[in-house]
Amino acid sequence: MPVREHYDRFLAGEYAWMAGGFEINLDRNRRFFHEMGIVPRSSNTALDLGAGCGFAAIPLAEAGFRVTAVDFCRPLLDELVRYAPDIVTVEGDILDFPLWAGRNPELIICMGDTLTHLPNAGSVQDLLRQCYAELVPGGRFILALRDYSREVEGSVVVIPVQREQDRIFLCRLEYQADHVGVKDVLYSRESGSWERSYGEYRKLRIAPAFLERELEREGFRIEKNTVGEGHITMIVIKEL
Ligand SMILES: C[S@@+](CC[C@H](N)C(=O)[O-])C[C@H]1O[C@@H](n2cnc3c(N)ncnc32)[C@H](O)[C@@H]1O
Repeated sequence: MPVREHYDRFLAGEYAWMAGGFEINLDRNRRFFHEMGIVPRSSNTALDLGAGCGFAAIPLAEAGFRVTAVDFCRPLLDELVRYAPDIVTVEGDILDFPLWAGRNPELIICMGDTLTHLPNAGSVQDLLRQCYAELVPGGRFILALRDYSREVEGSVVVIPVQREQDRIFLCRLEYQADHVGVKDVLYSRESGSWERSYGEYRKLRIAPAFLERELEREGFRIEKNTVGEGHITMIVIKEL
């Protein structure tokens, strides 16, 4: 199933709950931006690519940035706007560059695993190049994604993601050479009987070394690079 359809039809309604709750995620990102010293310094403008319901965009707006949130999932953007009406939203594909170009951002973020949703390594390279072109000199780009690069091809992993009395959310990952087949499964209890629904899509296996190489090739200097516990977090800067 195409990623957009998976989010629109299946995941959007469950996303905040599945991710552990709205406030918990806002707080995590408030702490992260604070610890990393991410505050407005020049153009005051930030772009959140693949913003979802705003777990990162909202803390950035609270920190004083004028934020534009780009995502192709309208239901998630609607959730964001209900919480933070001042954030500008752009509905569309982050690979459709004219949609979000020309805003002079001093900060671009692509967090919460959005990068792995892109169709192939070439589109990741194109996005990094466009981010470099769009940032003002001295601007920063923050990437946060899951590290799916380590598992052996052919492995299957099932993750119990979230559960409450009448809902259980599982995620099944099947590792292929360059991507992971993802199956999100939701069990929900209605009038005593359990119903099962699911959606499937692909995520890219992006290795930290690939990202480092491509970011440096575009001209970024890597300020922070953390790889561990299945996550990659990078903060890179376009030098003055
Ligand atoms: C795992 S969620 C992360 C959302 C948010 N960044 C966060 O940290 O909670 C991935 C988001 O990226 C969006 N997305 C994935 N591929 C996209 C694309 N090519 N263009 C626009 N949005 C995309 C999805 O709709 C979804 O909201």
